Amino acid sequence: MFEIGDSDFLLDGRPFRILSGALHYFRVHPDSWADRIEKARLMGLNTIETYVPWNAHSPRPGTFDTSGMLDLERFLREVAAAGLYAIVRPGPYICAEWDNGGLPAWLFREPGLGVRRYEPRFMAAVQEYLNDVLRIVEPLQVSAGGPVLLVQVENEYGAFGDDPTYLKAVAEIIRSAGITVPLVTVDQPVDAMLAAGGLDGVLRTGSFGSRVAERLETLRRHQPTGPLMCMEFWDGWFDHWGGPHHTTSVAEAAAELDALLAAGASVNIYMLHGGTNFGLTSGANDKGVYRPTITSYDYDAPLDEAGHPTLKYHAFREVISRYATVPDDVPASGAAAPETSAALGSPLRLLADPWGTWSEHAELPTLDELDARLVLFRTEVPAEGPVLLSIGEVRDRAYVFLNSAPVGVLDRERHDRALMLPHGGHLEILVEDQGRVNYGQRIGEPKGLIGPVQLDGVELTEWSACVIDLDAVPALWDSVGPVAPGVGPTAWRASFEVETPVDHFLSTVAWGKGFAWVNGFNLGRYWRRGPQQTLYVPGPLLRPGRNELVVLELDVMADPVAHFVAGPLLGPLEL
Ligand code: GLA
Repeated sequence: MFEIGDSDFLLDGRPFRILSGALHYFRVHPDSWADRIEKARLMGLNTIETYVPWNAHSPRPGTFDTSGMLDLERFLREVAAAGLYAIVRPGPYICAEWDNGGLPAWLFREPGLGVRRYEPRFMAAVQEYLNDVLRIVEPLQVSAGGPVLLVQVENEYGAFGDDPTYLKAVAEIIRSAGITVPLVTVDQPVDAMLAAGGLDGVLRTGSFGSRVAERLETLRRHQPTGPLMCMEFWDGWFDHWGGPHHTTSVAEAAAELDALLAAGASVNIYMLHGGTNFGLTSGANDKGVYRPTITSYDYDAPLDEAGHPTLKYHAFREVISRYATVPDDVPASGAAAPETSAALGSPLRLLADPWGTWSEHAELPTLDELDARLVLFRTEVPAEGPVLLSIGEVRDRAYVFLNSAPVGVLDRERHDRALMLPHGGHLEILVEDQGRVNYGQRIGEPKGLIGPVQLDGVELTEWSACVIDLDAVPALWDSVGPVAPGVGPTAWRASFEVETPVDHFLSTVAWGKGFAWVNGFNLGRYWRRGPQQTLYVPGPLLRPGRNELVVLELDVMADPVAHFVAGPLLGPLEL
Protein backbone atom coordinates (compact mmCIF):
# COMPACT_ATOMS: atom_id res chain seq x y z
CA MET A 1 0.00 0.00 0.00
CA PHE A 2 1.52 3.31 -1.08
CA GLU A 3 -0.02 6.63 -0.03
CA ILE A 4 0.56 10.34 0.30
CA GLY A 5 0.92 11.21 3.99
CA ASP A 6 0.85 14.65 5.62
CA SER A 7 4.56 15.15 5.06
CA ASP A 8 5.87 11.91 3.54
CA PHE A 9 5.09 9.14 1.14
CA LEU A 10 3.86 6.17 3.16
CA LEU A 11 4.68 2.60 2.19
CA ASP A 12 2.58 0.21 4.24
CA GLY A 13 2.05 3.04 6.69
CA ARG A 14 5.72 3.91 7.17
CA PRO A 15 7.50 7.03 5.79
CA PHE A 16 9.28 6.21 2.54
CA ARG A 17 11.68 8.44 0.63
CA ILE A 18 11.75 7.82 -3.11
CA LEU A 19 15.31 7.69 -4.43
CA SER A 20 14.67 7.19 -8.12
CA GLY A 21 16.63 7.30 -11.34
CA ALA A 22 15.22 7.91 -14.83
CA LEU A 23 15.90 5.12 -17.30
CA HIS A 24 13.90 5.02 -20.55
CA TYR A 25 13.46 1.42 -21.68
CA PHE A 26 12.94 2.67 -25.25
CA ARG A 27 16.45 4.16 -25.34
CA VAL A 28 18.33 1.05 -24.20
CA HIS A 29 18.66 -2.41 -25.77
CA PRO A 30 16.38 -4.75 -23.77
CA ASP A 31 19.21 -7.18 -23.07
CA SER A 32 20.97 -4.34 -21.19
CA TRP A 33 18.00 -3.31 -19.02
CA ALA A 34 18.89 -5.65 -16.16
CA ASP A 35 22.48 -4.38 -16.11
CA ARG A 36 21.42 -0.72 -15.89
CA ILE A 37 18.77 -1.47 -13.24
CA GLU A 38 21.31 -3.36 -11.11
CA LYS A 39 23.70 -0.41 -11.33
CA ALA A 40 20.89 1.87 -10.16
CA ARG A 41 20.47 -0.37 -7.12
CA LEU A 42 24.20 -0.28 -6.43
CA MET A 43 24.12 3.53 -6.53
CA GLY A 44 21.67 3.38 -3.63
CA LEU A 45 18.45 4.03 -5.56
CA ASN A 46 15.21 2.27 -4.60
CA THR A 47 13.12 3.20 -7.69
CA ILE A 48 13.36 3.42 -11.49
CA GLU A 49 11.29 5.95 -13.43
CA THR A 50 10.34 5.76 -17.09
CA TYR A 51 8.26 7.70 -19.56
CA VAL A 52 6.12 5.81 -22.11
CA PRO A 53 6.39 7.09 -25.73
CA TRP A 54 2.97 6.93 -27.39
CA ASN A 55 4.29 7.40 -30.94
CA ALA A 56 6.78 4.54 -30.60
CA HIS A 57 4.11 2.14 -29.37
CA SER A 58 1.51 3.36 -31.89
CA PRO A 59 3.19 4.19 -35.19
CA ARG A 60 -0.24 3.79 -36.85
CA PRO A 61 -3.72 4.44 -35.45
CA GLY A 62 -5.14 1.38 -33.74
CA THR A 63 -1.76 -0.31 -33.14
CA PHE A 64 0.08 -0.87 -29.87
CA ASP A 65 3.48 -2.50 -30.28
CA THR A 66 5.14 -3.99 -27.19
CA SER A 67 7.84 -6.00 -28.93
CA GLY A 68 11.59 -5.83 -28.27
CA MET A 69 12.66 -2.44 -26.94
CA LEU A 70 9.00 -1.53 -26.35
CA ASP A 71 8.28 -4.36 -23.91
CA LEU A 72 7.20 -2.20 -20.96
CA GLU A 73 5.95 -5.21 -19.00
CA ARG A 74 9.29 -7.00 -19.23
CA PHE A 75 11.03 -3.78 -18.17
CA LEU A 76 8.82 -3.30 -15.11
CA ARG A 77 9.24 -6.95 -14.16
CA GLU A 78 13.01 -6.59 -14.38
CA VAL A 79 12.80 -3.53 -12.10
CA ALA A 80 10.79 -5.63 -9.63
CA ALA A 81 13.20 -8.57 -9.92
CA ALA A 82 16.03 -6.28 -8.82
CA GLY A 83 14.00 -5.36 -5.72
CA LEU A 84 13.28 -1.82 -6.91
CA TYR A 85 10.05 0.16 -7.26
CA ALA A 86 8.89 1.98 -10.38
CA ILE A 87 7.33 5.28 -11.48
CA VAL A 88 5.49 5.34 -14.82
CA ARG A 89 4.96 8.56 -16.77
CA PRO A 90 2.76 7.73 -19.78
CA GLY A 91 2.09 11.31 -20.91
CA PRO A 92 0.22 11.35 -23.25
CA TYR A 93 2.78 14.10 -23.93
CA ILE A 94 6.28 13.37 -22.55
CA CYS A 95 8.67 16.01 -24.02
CA ALA A 96 11.90 14.03 -23.26
CA GLU A 97 13.81 15.27 -26.34
CA TRP A 98 11.76 12.59 -28.11
CA ASP A 99 10.26 13.06 -31.59
CA ASN A 100 7.10 15.18 -31.22
CA GLY A 101 7.25 14.84 -27.42
CA GLY A 102 5.75 11.36 -27.91
CA LEU A 103 2.58 12.47 -29.70
CA PRO A 104 1.94 10.35 -32.83
CA ALA A 105 2.29 12.36 -36.05
CA TRP A 106 -0.90 10.74 -37.37
CA LEU A 107 -2.97 12.61 -34.78
CA PHE A 108 -2.19 15.86 -36.55
CA ARG A 109 -3.39 14.68 -39.95
CA GLU A 110 -6.98 15.27 -38.86
CA PRO A 111 -7.70 18.88 -39.71
CA GLY A 112 -8.46 21.00 -36.68
CA LEU A 113 -7.68 18.32 -34.07
CA GLY A 114 -6.46 20.06 -30.93
CA VAL A 115 -3.83 18.35 -28.78
CA ARG A 116 -3.11 18.73 -25.05
CA ARG A 117 -6.54 20.19 -24.45
CA TYR A 118 -10.05 18.86 -23.99
CA GLU A 119 -10.93 18.12 -27.58
CA PRO A 120 -13.17 15.10 -28.23
CA ARG A 121 -11.14 13.42 -30.98
CA PHE A 122 -7.87 13.91 -29.09
CA MET A 123 -9.44 12.61 -25.88
CA ALA A 124 -10.75 9.49 -27.66
CA ALA A 125 -7.24 8.74 -28.95
CA VAL A 126 -5.72 9.45 -25.50
CA GLN A 127 -8.22 7.12 -23.87
CA GLU A 128 -7.37 4.28 -26.26
CA TYR A 129 -3.63 4.81 -25.76
CA LEU A 130 -3.75 5.10 -21.98
CA ASN A 131 -5.94 2.01 -21.74
CA ASP A 132 -3.32 0.07 -23.73
CA VAL A 133 -0.50 1.24 -21.45
CA LEU A 134 -2.36 0.92 -18.19
CA ARG A 135 -3.54 -2.59 -19.00
CA ILE A 136 0.16 -3.43 -18.53
CA VAL A 137 0.69 -1.19 -15.48
CA GLU A 138 -2.49 -1.99 -13.54
CA PRO A 139 -1.49 -5.51 -12.36
CA LEU A 140 2.02 -4.25 -11.58
CA GLN A 141 0.98 -1.64 -9.02
CA VAL A 142 2.47 -1.96 -5.56
CA SER A 143 -0.99 -2.70 -4.15
CA ALA A 144 -1.07 -5.84 -6.33
CA GLY A 145 2.44 -6.87 -5.28
CA GLY A 146 4.13 -5.17 -8.25
CA PRO A 147 6.74 -2.37 -8.35
CA VAL A 148 4.69 0.65 -9.50
CA LEU A 149 4.39 3.37 -6.84
CA LEU A 150 3.25 6.42 -8.81
CA VAL A 151 1.76 7.34 -12.19
CA GLN A 152 2.22 10.82 -13.64
CA VAL A 153 -0.52 12.81 -15.40
CA GLU A 154 0.72 14.69 -18.52
CA ASN A 155 4.11 16.43 -18.33
CA GLU A 156 4.96 20.03 -17.40
CA TYR A 157 1.47 20.97 -18.55
CA GLY A 158 1.79 24.41 -16.98
CA ALA A 159 4.51 25.28 -19.50
CA PHE A 160 2.09 24.66 -22.37
CA GLY A 161 -1.57 25.07 -21.63
CA ASP A 162 -4.26 26.13 -19.23
CA ASP A 163 -7.14 23.70 -19.61
CA PRO A 164 -8.04 22.13 -16.25
CA THR A 165 -10.84 20.14 -17.90
CA TYR A 166 -8.24 18.36 -20.01
CA LEU A 167 -5.88 17.57 -17.12
CA LYS A 168 -8.78 16.34 -15.02
CA ALA A 169 -10.02 14.14 -17.85
CA VAL A 170 -6.56 12.55 -18.27
CA ALA A 171 -6.47 11.82 -14.53
CA GLU A 172 -9.96 10.30 -14.73
CA ILE A 173 -8.96 8.06 -17.65
CA ILE A 174 -5.99 6.85 -15.58
CA ARG A 175 -8.18 6.20 -12.54
CA SER A 176 -10.86 4.41 -14.53
CA ALA A 177 -8.17 2.09 -15.99
CA GLY A 178 -7.78 0.72 -12.47
CA ILE A 179 -4.80 2.78 -11.29
CA THR A 180 -5.14 3.18 -7.53
CA VAL A 181 -1.60 4.30 -6.60
CA PRO A 182 -1.12 8.06 -6.07
CA LEU A 183 -1.03 10.27 -9.17
CA VAL A 184 1.41 13.16 -9.64
CA THR A 185 1.96 16.11 -11.96
CA VAL A 186 5.32 17.75 -12.66
CA ASP A 187 6.01 21.40 -13.42
CA GLN A 188 8.92 23.77 -13.52
CA PRO A 189 9.03 25.62 -10.20
CA VAL A 190 7.43 28.81 -11.47
CA ASP A 191 4.21 29.98 -9.81
CA ALA A 192 2.22 30.34 -13.03
CA MET A 193 3.28 26.92 -14.28
CA LEU A 194 2.60 25.13 -11.01
CA ALA A 195 -0.80 26.82 -10.90
CA ALA A 196 -1.77 25.84 -14.46
CA GLY A 197 -0.20 22.37 -14.39
CA GLY A 198 -1.58 21.11 -11.06
CA LEU A 199 -4.78 19.35 -10.11
CA ASP A 200 -6.48 19.05 -6.76
CA GLY A 201 -6.08 15.57 -5.34
CA VAL A 202 -2.94 14.96 -7.40
CA LEU A 203 0.50 15.54 -5.86
CA ARG A 204 2.44 18.39 -7.47
CA THR A 205 6.16 17.79 -8.03
CA GLY A 206 8.90 19.94 -9.57
CA SER A 207 11.55 19.69 -12.31
CA PHE A 208 14.86 21.46 -11.63
CA GLY A 209 18.57 20.81 -11.17
CA SER A 210 19.80 23.76 -9.13
CA ARG A 211 18.85 26.38 -6.50
CA VAL A 212 17.20 23.58 -4.56
CA ALA A 213 16.05 25.52 -1.46
CA GLU A 214 14.35 28.23 -3.50
CA ARG A 215 12.69 25.70 -5.83
CA LEU A 216 11.37 23.59 -2.97
CA GLU A 217 9.96 26.73 -1.38
CA THR A 218 8.09 27.58 -4.59
CA LEU A 219 6.80 24.02 -4.84
CA ARG A 220 5.67 24.13 -1.20
CA ARG A 221 3.49 27.16 -1.91
CA HIS A 222 1.52 25.05 -4.39
CA GLN A 223 1.68 21.79 -2.48
CA PRO A 224 1.11 22.90 1.13
CA THR A 225 1.09 19.39 2.59
CA GLY A 226 2.49 16.02 1.61
CA PRO A 227 5.97 14.97 0.51
CA LEU A 228 8.17 17.25 -1.58
CA MET A 229 9.51 15.61 -4.68
CA CYS A 230 11.82 16.73 -7.45
CA MET A 231 10.49 14.54 -10.27
CA GLU A 232 13.30 15.63 -12.58
CA PHE A 233 16.54 16.41 -10.88
CA TRP A 234 18.46 17.53 -13.98
CA ASP A 235 22.00 16.27 -13.54
CA GLY A 236 23.14 16.92 -17.11
CA TRP A 237 21.67 18.10 -20.38
CA PHE A 238 21.11 17.11 -24.02
CA ASP A 239 22.86 18.33 -27.15
CA HIS A 240 21.78 19.77 -30.50
CA TRP A 241 23.52 19.18 -33.83
CA GLY A 242 26.06 21.90 -34.34
CA GLY A 243 26.13 22.85 -30.67
CA PRO A 244 28.56 22.02 -27.86
CA HIS A 245 28.42 18.81 -25.86
CA HIS A 246 26.85 19.60 -22.48
CA THR A 247 28.32 18.46 -19.21
CA THR A 248 27.70 19.62 -15.65
CA SER A 249 30.20 19.84 -12.82
CA VAL A 250 30.25 16.65 -10.74
CA ALA A 251 30.86 18.59 -7.53
CA GLU A 252 28.00 21.02 -8.16
CA ALA A 253 25.55 18.29 -9.18
CA ALA A 254 26.47 16.26 -6.08
CA ALA A 255 26.08 19.34 -3.84
CA GLU A 256 22.61 20.02 -5.28
CA LEU A 257 21.60 16.39 -4.72
CA ASP A 258 22.89 16.66 -1.17
CA ALA A 259 20.83 19.81 -0.60
CA LEU A 260 17.73 18.10 -1.94
CA LEU A 261 18.14 15.05 0.27
CA ALA A 262 19.06 17.18 3.31
CA ALA A 263 15.76 19.01 2.84
CA GLY A 264 13.98 15.66 3.17
CA ALA A 265 12.74 15.63 -0.42
CA SER A 266 12.22 12.61 -2.66
CA VAL A 267 14.01 12.60 -5.97
CA ASN A 268 14.00 11.19 -9.47
CA ILE A 269 17.44 11.76 -11.00
CA TYR A 270 16.92 12.79 -14.62
CA MET A 271 18.75 10.94 -16.11
CA LEU A 272 20.32 8.03 -14.25
CA HIS A 273 21.17 6.63 -17.68
CA GLY A 274 20.13 8.45 -20.85
CA GLY A 275 20.81 5.87 -23.56
CA THR A 276 20.36 6.59 -27.24
CA ASN A 277 17.85 8.12 -29.65
CA PHE A 278 18.07 5.17 -32.02
CA GLY A 279 16.54 5.37 -35.49
CA LEU A 280 14.57 8.55 -36.10
CA THR A 281 13.37 9.04 -32.54
CA SER A 282 15.15 12.24 -31.50
CA GLY A 283 13.19 15.46 -31.16
CA ALA A 284 14.08 19.10 -31.69
CA ASN A 285 13.65 22.51 -30.12
CA ASP A 286 12.53 25.70 -31.80
CA LYS A 287 12.50 29.04 -30.07
CA GLY A 288 12.77 30.90 -33.36
CA VAL A 289 15.59 28.70 -34.66
CA TYR A 290 15.00 25.01 -35.33
CA ARG A 291 17.61 22.94 -33.45
CA PRO A 292 17.40 19.15 -33.90
CA THR A 293 18.59 16.93 -31.04
CA ILE A 294 21.49 14.53 -31.58
CA THR A 295 21.41 10.73 -31.51
CA SER A 296 23.27 10.24 -28.23
CA TYR A 297 21.22 10.83 -25.09
CA ASP A 298 24.27 10.39 -22.86
CA TYR A 299 23.04 13.42 -20.92
CA ASP A 300 26.27 13.46 -18.87
CA ALA A 301 24.33 11.13 -16.58
CA PRO A 302 25.85 8.97 -13.81
CA LEU A 303 25.79 5.97 -16.17
CA ASP A 304 27.13 6.96 -19.58
CA GLU A 305 25.53 6.06 -22.90
CA ALA A 306 27.11 2.58 -22.76
CA GLY A 307 25.96 2.08 -19.16
CA HIS A 308 29.34 2.55 -17.49
CA PRO A 309 29.62 4.35 -14.16
CA THR A 310 31.15 7.84 -14.36
CA LEU A 311 32.64 10.12 -11.70
CA LYS A 312 29.13 11.48 -11.22
CA TYR A 313 27.91 7.96 -10.40
CA HIS A 314 30.45 7.58 -7.62
CA ALA A 315 29.80 11.10 -6.29
CA PHE A 316 26.02 10.55 -6.22
CA ARG A 317 26.47 7.16 -4.57
CA GLU A 318 28.52 8.79 -1.84
CA VAL A 319 25.89 11.53 -1.31
CA ILE A 320 23.09 8.95 -1.15
CA SER A 321 25.06 6.90 1.40
CA ARG A 322 24.69 9.84 3.82
CA TYR A 323 20.92 9.34 3.80
CA ALA A 324 20.29 5.69 2.97
CA THR A 325 21.94 2.30 3.00
CA VAL A 326 23.94 1.78 -0.17
CA PRO A 327 25.00 -1.77 -1.18
CA ASP A 328 28.73 -2.47 -0.79
CA ASP A 329 29.33 -3.62 -4.36
CA VAL A 330 30.55 -1.05 -6.87
CA PRO A 331 30.09 -1.67 -10.60
CA ALA A 332 33.27 -1.99 -12.66
CA SER A 333 34.42 0.77 -14.98
CA GLY A 334 34.02 0.26 -18.73
CA ALA A 335 36.77 -1.32 -20.81
CA ALA A 336 38.02 0.00 -24.16
CA ALA A 337 35.92 -1.15 -27.11
CA PRO A 338 37.43 -3.23 -29.93
CA GLU A 339 39.04 -1.24 -32.75
CA THR A 340 38.58 -2.48 -36.28
CA SER A 341 37.98 -1.13 -39.80
CA ALA A 342 36.09 -2.20 -42.89
CA ALA A 343 35.89 -0.70 -46.37
CA LEU A 344 32.39 0.39 -47.46
CA GLY A 345 31.48 -1.01 -50.86
CA SER A 346 28.64 -1.90 -53.26
CA PRO A 347 27.33 1.70 -53.52
CA LEU A 348 23.69 2.19 -54.51
CA ARG A 349 22.86 5.67 -55.75
CA LEU A 350 19.36 6.97 -55.19
CA LEU A 351 19.44 9.28 -58.21
CA ALA A 352 20.66 6.49 -60.50
CA ASP A 353 18.01 3.96 -59.51
CA PRO A 354 15.28 5.17 -57.10
CA TRP A 355 14.50 2.84 -54.22
CA GLY A 356 10.74 2.84 -54.37
CA THR A 357 7.77 3.51 -56.58
CA TRP A 358 6.82 6.94 -57.85
CA SER A 359 3.45 8.47 -57.10
CA GLU A 360 2.06 11.40 -59.05
CA HIS A 361 0.70 14.57 -57.46
CA ALA A 362 -0.80 17.67 -59.08
CA GLU A 363 0.15 19.59 -55.91
CA LEU A 364 3.23 18.93 -53.81
CA PRO A 365 2.29 16.65 -50.85
CA THR A 366 3.81 17.03 -47.37
CA LEU A 367 5.85 14.19 -45.87
CA ASP A 368 2.92 13.62 -43.51
CA GLU A 369 0.54 13.11 -46.42
CA LEU A 370 2.98 10.50 -47.72
CA ASP A 371 3.51 9.00 -44.23
CA ALA A 372 7.27 9.34 -44.74
CA ARG A 373 10.41 10.77 -43.13
CA LEU A 374 12.56 10.98 -46.28
CA VAL A 375 11.19 11.60 -49.77
CA LEU A 376 12.65 12.25 -53.22
CA PHE A 377 10.49 14.67 -55.20
CA ARG A 378 10.92 15.46 -58.89
CA THR A 379 9.43 17.73 -61.50
CA GLU A 380 10.42 19.48 -64.71
CA VAL A 381 11.50 23.11 -64.72
CA PRO A 382 10.65 24.78 -68.03
CA ALA A 383 13.17 27.63 -68.25
CA GLU A 384 16.03 28.65 -70.52
CA GLY A 385 18.06 30.87 -68.25
CA PRO A 386 18.38 31.35 -64.46
CA VAL A 387 15.18 31.03 -62.46
CA LEU A 388 14.38 31.55 -58.76
CA LEU A 389 13.19 28.53 -56.77
CA SER A 390 11.51 29.61 -53.53
CA ILE A 391 9.84 27.62 -50.78
CA GLY A 392 7.55 28.84 -47.98
CA GLU A 393 9.44 26.86 -45.34
CA VAL A 394 11.82 23.92 -45.58
CA ARG A 395 11.13 21.25 -42.95
CA ASP A 396 13.78 20.34 -42.40
CA ARG A 397 16.45 19.94 -45.06
CA ALA A 398 16.29 19.83 -48.84
CA TYR A 399 19.04 18.57 -51.15
CA VAL A 400 18.47 20.07 -54.59
CA PHE A 401 19.66 18.49 -57.87
CA LEU A 402 19.25 19.72 -61.43
CA ASN A 403 19.81 17.22 -64.26
CA SER A 404 21.49 15.03 -61.61
CA ALA A 405 24.01 17.69 -60.56
CA PRO A 406 23.89 19.16 -57.01
CA VAL A 407 22.84 22.83 -56.94
CA GLY A 408 22.53 23.38 -53.18
CA VAL A 409 21.09 22.44 -49.82
CA LEU A 410 18.31 24.39 -48.08
CA ASP A 411 18.39 24.03 -44.32
CA ARG A 412 15.63 25.04 -41.94
CA GLU A 413 18.04 25.93 -39.16
CA ARG A 414 19.59 28.59 -41.41
CA HIS A 415 16.12 29.75 -42.49
CA ASP A 416 17.09 28.91 -46.09
CA ARG A 417 14.15 29.17 -48.45
CA ALA A 418 15.35 30.11 -51.92
CA LEU A 419 17.89 29.03 -54.49
CA MET A 420 18.81 30.33 -57.96
CA LEU A 421 18.61 27.51 -60.48
CA PRO A 422 21.12 28.28 -63.27
CA HIS A 423 18.74 26.91 -65.93
CA GLY A 424 15.72 24.67 -66.39
CA GLY A 425 15.72 20.88 -66.52
CA HIS A 426 14.97 17.83 -64.46
CA LEU A 427 14.61 19.02 -60.84
CA GLU A 428 14.99 16.54 -57.95
CA ILE A 429 14.71 17.48 -54.28
CA LEU A 430 15.38 15.06 -51.43
CA VAL A 431 13.51 16.24 -48.33
CA GLU A 432 14.57 15.07 -44.88
CA ASP A 433 12.62 15.25 -41.62
CA GLN A 434 15.27 15.78 -38.91
CA GLY A 435 12.98 15.24 -35.93
CA ARG A 436 9.84 16.92 -34.68
CA VAL A 437 9.86 19.70 -32.14
CA ASN A 438 9.13 18.23 -28.69
CA TYR A 439 8.54 21.36 -26.58
CA GLY A 440 6.30 24.39 -27.00
CA GLN A 441 3.60 25.26 -29.49
CA ARG A 442 5.29 23.81 -32.59
CA ILE A 443 4.63 20.18 -31.70
CA GLY A 444 2.83 18.36 -34.48
CA GLU A 445 3.65 20.72 -37.33
CA PRO A 446 3.78 19.07 -40.76
CA LYS A 447 7.09 18.20 -42.40
CA GLY A 448 8.16 18.67 -46.01
CA LEU A 449 8.38 21.62 -48.37
CA ILE A 450 5.69 23.71 -46.80
CA GLY A 451 4.18 25.71 -49.60
CA PRO A 452 4.08 27.34 -51.79
CA VAL A 453 7.02 26.10 -53.86
CA GLN A 454 7.43 28.65 -56.64
CA LEU A 455 9.48 29.32 -59.76
CA ASP A 456 9.86 33.06 -60.26
CA GLY A 457 6.73 33.57 -58.17
CA VAL A 458 4.55 30.96 -59.94
CA GLU A 459 3.57 27.79 -58.08
CA LEU A 460 5.34 24.63 -59.29
CA THR A 461 2.85 21.79 -59.87
CA GLU A 462 2.88 18.24 -61.28
CA TRP A 463 5.28 16.46 -58.93
CA SER A 464 6.36 12.85 -58.61
CA ALA A 465 7.29 11.51 -55.19
CA CYS A 466 9.35 8.48 -54.19
CA VAL A 467 9.11 7.58 -50.49
CA ILE A 468 12.35 6.16 -49.05
CA ASP A 469 11.41 3.43 -46.61
CA LEU A 470 14.32 3.66 -44.19
CA ASP A 471 13.53 0.30 -42.59
CA ALA A 472 14.05 -1.28 -46.01
CA VAL A 473 17.46 0.30 -46.72
CA PRO A 474 19.52 -2.62 -45.30
CA ALA A 475 17.75 -4.98 -47.74
CA LEU A 476 18.12 -2.74 -50.84
CA TRP A 477 20.85 -4.93 -52.32
CA ASP A 478 18.30 -7.70 -52.82
CA SER A 479 16.53 -5.61 -55.44
CA VAL A 480 18.91 -2.87 -56.66
CA GLY A 481 22.29 -3.41 -58.29
CA PRO A 482 25.48 -1.50 -57.29
CA VAL A 483 26.68 1.34 -59.56
CA ALA A 484 29.81 3.49 -59.67
CA PRO A 485 30.05 6.01 -56.80
CA GLY A 486 28.78 9.45 -57.80
CA VAL A 487 26.48 12.36 -57.00
CA GLY A 488 23.69 12.27 -54.43
CA PRO A 489 22.48 10.02 -51.61
CA THR A 490 24.28 6.70 -51.60
CA ALA A 491 23.82 3.51 -49.59
CA TRP A 492 26.99 1.57 -48.75
CA ARG A 493 27.64 -1.65 -46.98
CA ALA A 494 30.50 -3.47 -45.30
CA SER A 495 30.96 -6.58 -43.27
CA PHE A 496 33.14 -6.64 -40.19
CA GLU A 497 34.32 -9.33 -37.83
CA VAL A 498 33.52 -9.48 -34.14
CA GLU A 499 35.15 -11.80 -31.65
CA THR A 500 32.85 -11.23 -28.69
CA PRO A 501 29.62 -9.28 -29.02
CA VAL A 502 30.57 -6.32 -26.82
CA ASP A 503 29.71 -2.63 -27.30
CA HIS A 504 31.40 -0.89 -30.25
CA PHE A 505 31.70 2.78 -31.22
CA LEU A 506 31.40 3.65 -34.90
CA SER A 507 33.39 6.72 -35.92
CA THR A 508 31.52 9.01 -38.32
CA VAL A 509 34.14 11.78 -38.64
CA ALA A 510 34.95 11.05 -42.28
CA TRP A 511 31.30 10.93 -43.32
CA GLY A 512 28.77 13.65 -44.13
CA LYS A 513 25.21 13.17 -42.90
CA GLY A 514 22.99 10.15 -42.78
CA PHE A 515 22.04 6.96 -40.96
CA ALA A 516 23.84 3.72 -40.09
CA TRP A 517 22.48 0.23 -39.45
CA VAL A 518 24.18 -2.73 -37.82
CA ASN A 519 22.63 -6.12 -38.62
CA GLY A 520 19.51 -4.27 -39.75
CA PHE A 521 19.14 -2.12 -36.58
CA ASN A 522 19.07 1.65 -37.17
CA LEU A 523 21.70 3.20 -34.86
CA GLY A 524 20.42 6.71 -35.59
CA ARG A 525 21.55 9.80 -37.42
CA TYR A 526 25.14 10.98 -37.82
CA TRP A 527 26.28 14.40 -39.02
CA ARG A 528 29.75 15.79 -39.44
CA ARG A 529 28.65 19.00 -37.67
CA GLY A 530 28.82 17.11 -34.41
CA PRO A 531 29.12 17.45 -31.56
CA GLN A 532 29.02 13.63 -31.46
CA GLN A 533 31.54 11.93 -33.70
CA THR A 534 30.71 8.32 -32.89
CA LEU A 535 27.56 6.20 -32.86
CA TYR A 536 27.00 3.76 -30.02
CA VAL A 537 26.65 0.13 -31.17
CA PRO A 538 25.13 -1.96 -28.33
CA GLY A 539 26.90 -5.29 -27.87
CA PRO A 540 23.64 -7.30 -27.94
CA LEU A 541 23.16 -6.28 -31.61
CA LEU A 542 26.35 -8.06 -32.60
CA ARG A 543 27.18 -11.74 -33.07
CA PRO A 544 30.49 -13.58 -33.04
CA GLY A 545 31.92 -13.70 -36.58
CA ARG A 546 30.58 -11.70 -39.52
CA ASN A 547 28.33 -8.67 -38.96
CA GLU A 548 26.82 -6.28 -41.46
CA LEU A 549 27.04 -2.49 -41.50
CA VAL A 550 24.90 -0.38 -43.84
CA VAL A 551 25.33 3.38 -44.19
CA LEU A 552 23.01 5.77 -46.00
CA GLU A 553 25.03 8.89 -46.81
CA LEU A 554 22.76 11.77 -47.83
CA ASP A 555 25.56 14.21 -48.47
CA VAL A 556 29.18 13.31 -49.28
CA MET A 557 31.57 10.83 -47.71
CA ALA A 558 35.18 11.92 -47.49
CA ASP A 559 36.31 8.37 -46.89
CA PRO A 560 34.10 5.34 -47.53
CA VAL A 561 35.63 3.32 -44.71
CA ALA A 562 34.06 2.34 -41.39
CA HIS A 563 36.28 2.68 -38.33
CA PHE A 564 35.25 1.30 -34.96
CA VAL A 565 37.08 3.17 -32.21
CA ALA A 566 37.90 2.53 -28.55
CA GLY A 567 35.28 4.80 -26.99
CA PRO A 568 32.68 7.50 -27.48
CA LEU A 569 33.61 10.94 -28.85
CA LEU A 570 30.79 13.26 -27.83
CA GLY A 571 32.44 16.47 -28.97
CA PRO A 572 33.78 19.81 -27.75
CA LEU A 573 32.37 21.42 -24.60
CA GLU A 574 32.72 24.92 -26.04
CA LEU A 575 32.37 26.29 -29.54
C1 GLA B 1 11.70 18.83 -18.97
C2 GLA B 1 10.86 17.69 -19.50
C3 GLA B 1 11.69 16.46 -19.78
C4 GLA B 1 12.97 16.82 -20.52
C5 GLA B 1 13.74 17.84 -19.71
C6 GLA B 1 15.03 18.29 -20.35
O1 GLA B 1 11.88 18.69 -17.66
O2 GLA B 1 9.83 17.35 -18.61
O3 GLA B 1 10.93 15.56 -20.54
O4 GLA B 1 12.63 17.35 -21.75
O5 GLA B 1 12.96 18.99 -19.57
O6 GLA B 1 15.88 17.24 -20.58
